[in-house]
Amino acid sequence: MANDQGIMMMVKFQAVESEALDWSGDGLVVSLFEGEVELTGSLAQLDEKLLGTLKELIAEKEFEGKPGSLAAARVGGGSSIRKVILVGLGRKENLTLEGIRLAAAAAARSAKAEKCKTVAMSLPVWNGDAAKTAGSIVEGVELALFQDSRFKSEPDKNHTVDSVDLLGLAGTEGAIAQGLQICAGVNLARELVAAPANACTPITMAEMAQALASELGLELEILSKEDCEKLGMGAFLGVAQASDLPPKFIHMTYKPPVTPRRKLAIVGKGLTFDSGGLNLKTQGGIETMKMDMGGAAATFGAAKAIGLLKPADIEVHFVSAVTENMISGHAMHPGDFLTASNGKTIEINNTDAEGRLTLSDALVFTEKLGVDAIVDLATLTGACVIALGDDIAGLWSTSDSLAAEVHQASELAGEKLWRMPLEEKYFEGLKAMHADMKNTGPRPGGSITAALFLKQFVEKTPWVHLDIAGPVWTDKEKGYNSAGATGFGVRTLVNWVLNA
Ligand code: BES
Ligand code: MN
Ligand code: ZN
Repeated sequence: MANDQGIMMMVKFQAVESEALDWSGDGLVVSLFEGEVELTGSLAQLDEKLLGTLKELIAEKEFEGKPGSLAAARVGGGSSIRKVILVGLGRKENLTLEGIRLAAAAAARSAKAEKCKTVAMSLPVWNGDAAKTAGSIVEGVELALFQDSRFKSEPDKNHTVDSVDLLGLAGTEGAIAQGLQICAGVNLARELVAAPANACTPITMAEMAQALASELGLELEILSKEDCEKLGMGAFLGVAQASDLPPKFIHMTYKPPVTPRRKLAIVGKGLTFDSGGLNLKTQGGIETMKMDMGGAAATFGAAKAIGLLKPADIEVHFVSAVTENMISGHAMHPGDFLTASNGKTIEINNTDAEGRLTLSDALVFTEKLGVDAIVDLATLTGACVIALGDDIAGLWSTSDSLAAEVHQASELAGEKLWRMPLEEKYFEGLKAMHADMKNTGPRPGGSITAALFLKQFVEKTPWVHLDIAGPVWTDKEKGYNSAGATGFGVRTLVNWVLNA
């Protein structure tokens, strides 16, 4: 199903004036705060209409309203509502947009399992903000119900939820549309990350950029290997040189109709496969390295969402140096020296620290565009996963105010970031004998030296680096993320641009 902007929608959303009492359909979602499961007022009335089903369900399942908890039951007696689904919100004083997203996601999954086609959700308005509440419900539902069956031989015949009515949220149509546009970006990023390295290549990434540019009216520049040579991108090309596939340096631009008030840039690491190069990875790591273009995927996802949302006066550049890190007779050797496009020389003491090499030339290119701020996203280091675990990305920045902007955007999105130190002293670990620097420092603080390496390629533009190696992927279903690619970063980036 596609809406009038051509966005594929899993679910048709509608903001309606009416409350639970007046609704009829397959599945009614009723939310309850923890410690407030007594049915009073309109809930008592509703329970009467549902022949006491709510009260029975709460007692029978010992439903306490804990965050994300669920209970569902069939309503008997020929009721105009087939099933009720209770979802817990946690304590009222702790309600957040993320809590609403998670409750909506849990309820949507339950509605699907209960084979409800027409669904209504009665959720509280967060902080008096009906628009943000509606947007979060849309995100929770869309992201939770997203299914990627592109690579299955048979399409998924699972039951689907057709429609979700947002009860008591009339007037939030704009926020619903915006939520759908953002989810279109997140789900694009998920598809790009989930696609294996034999389906997602530098060439298909360039084709995707072409498709996005023509669909959304973005400007597009794709530099070939020869173009990159002319620009002196020796670090990027050093990584690319063992691949049988041509590297693609991709630059999309969203230009607002008026003179921009701010020019922003998003740069994503785009390794469609990271074998490690001659410092070859081994089983227990190498087989997951299709996701090493998660930064580029977030960049493309943000381009999609921003191209749809069309912010009034912000220009946004989307940059990714896309290639594979492979082995062959013409692979870079450990010990080789490379020269990046800013003239700095790099001794390659480990070919598996390739992301920072591709990013170095991407950052130099981006700074030359004359933007006001740069945010890069990269599945850069295993060390960041060791430091912060699977759910939290690391943030490094040369600018406290830009770091605060990005942090605020991530909190609104429910995507977790933690600021890490750009500890200059650790740059000593990258000192080389005959070149300006090595590409790899000692194991302790490995995500910090990686960030310090990148810093050598940004001269003066305020810059944030996000290491998303942990949250780009989840092995099991978690909140509104299904198992697999999460699309991490897209919603933070979109919030950042919209609030810039
Ligand atoms: N793509 C990897 C980082 C990575 C590791 C992402 C695990 C997701 C999960 C990166 O290119 C890499 O190989 N980094 C090395 C750096 C080391 C050689 C200094 C690492 O983290 O081991
Ligand atoms: Mn690597
Ligand atoms: Zn990598």
